[in-house]
Amino acid sequence: GDYNGNLRPQVHYSPPTGFMNDPNGMFVDDTGLYHLYYQYNPTDTVAGNVHWGHATSRDLYTWENQRIAIFPGAPGEQIFSGSAVVDPNNTSGFFPNQTNGVVAFYTLLNPNGVQTQDVAYSTDGGYAFTKYSGNPVLDANSTQFRDPKVIWHTETGSWIMVTAFAQEYTISIWTSPNLREWTFASNFSHHGLLGLQYECPNLVQIPMNGSDDPMYILYISINPGAPLGGSVGQYFPGHFNGTHFTPVDSAARIADFGKDNYAGQFFYGVPGTQHQISIAWASNWQYTNLVPTASEGWRSAMSAPRRNYLANVTDRIPYQLISEPYEVQSMFSEELAFNDSLANGSVFVDYSVLQSGALYFEANVTGLTETSLTGTLNFTLSSVISGEVLRGGTTIGGDTWLDRGKTSGFDNVYFTDKFSVTGLYDGAGEWRISGIIDRTIIELFVNGGEQSATSIFFPSSPLDTMILRAGGIDGSATVSVGVWGLRSGWL
Ligand code: FRU
Repeated sequence: GDYNGNLRPQVHYSPPTGFMNDPNGMFVDDTGLYHLYYQYNPTDTVAGNVHWGHATSRDLYTWENQRIAIFPGAPGEQIFSGSAVVDPNNTSGFFPNQTNGVVAFYTLLNPNGVQTQDVAYSTDGGYAFTKYSGNPVLDANSTQFRDPKVIWHTETGSWIMVTAFAQEYTISIWTSPNLREWTFASNFSHHGLLGLQYECPNLVQIPMNGSDDPMYILYISINPGAPLGGSVGQYFPGHFNGTHFTPVDSAARIADFGKDNYAGQFFYGVPGTQHQISIAWASNWQYTNLVPTASEGWRSAMSAPRRNYLANVTDRIPYQLISEPYEVQSMFSEELAFNDSLANGSVFVDYSVLQSGALYFEANVTGLTETSLTGTLNFTLSSVISGEVLRGGTTIGGDTWLDRGKTSGFDNVYFTDKFSVTGLYDGAGEWRISGIIDRTIIELFVNGGEQSATSIFFPSSPLDTMILRAGGIDGSATVSVGVWGLRSGWL
């Protein structure tokens, strides 16, 4: 693949050529190497002919493309979304002489349209896979039964799979001692936003800030039918006893306030209890087959890796999924601007000489009290050549917004402009906005990931200047801002 094109993200994964959608099979191996598989059409820049593409990374920003991991067999087959686990104790029987065997679970789209859950295993650490001779491992004779995600449940000593009966709005939970034979345990049906269908469920144990309560979230993607149109991810915090998931309440919590964050998946095998790590597909089914990157021979990128945990930001919305960039500082190449006593004013950055074209910025107000929650932090990115701009900002203690409408490289009725979210001030005296800007993707974070937005945008000439502005901030508060260049993971 050629990663030089003006539209190519430099710190986000995108396929060498062809079309990509959902992340699949994500796991971290015993050497700390992260494996990302993905829905991949290697022969065209539109969705279809799906294989599992594969890439690996040690830092989750610098990726190495690997050979295609799973191929369709008979004509008309496709390898749909799924997950992978490491089976160190050889519960599956596939790995008599090793502790690093990898088992992948995917949906086989059969030529007759039936979707079954199938298994493939790898004895070389996740590069080459052999399809299990006993496939399928689950067959409900349904054309809408897909996206298996498997985890290990320590308390019951059992493997757990979640699948979607997509158009019945039902997530089914299955258990297995050996990754091959699966027993139905329970259904989780008709919760939250329904849309046309449920897809890509994830069940994952996740730490809750300030609590030892062993929380889980059930993450469900829906498409179409998102509040902003097209596809979106929602999640349910709750408890899981090995067979049943019980949500804490009936609220539908949206994972991202942009329009380009879908089919998110959590890595299997993240050590420790501090956080989980996820990656989502940074696109939307409404327009993904039409975006202009096909001129460079590829379509779709992944989101940045996110560090995830739960927190009660306010009593009004408990159990918020925090989602912040995972160790993005490891990609900093140079400081482009820094001012830790900006007060009301602005900084200007010309990054036209930055080869990666990728930035990270932060603006932070501290020393706030309930009576000094005033003012705004705004940013404008622009192209000196074309005058196109991308803008966003936040009101201290209030709303955060993003507007991609003044970039002109893509025109589509569903490619809507403006996104916003209502703020949740947690009383901690601080209000912060930060973001990654990577040529054609922006990810915006409020208060270190209490809220986040993923948005793709397509300028006709590269954006190359940034203005960060603080206005109306109370004199008793302190404003600090910084902008850093990010080094390319590709060039
Ligand atoms: C979600 C999805 C999955 C399916 C895959 C096919 O984006 O529709 O439900 O397995 O994409 O590529």
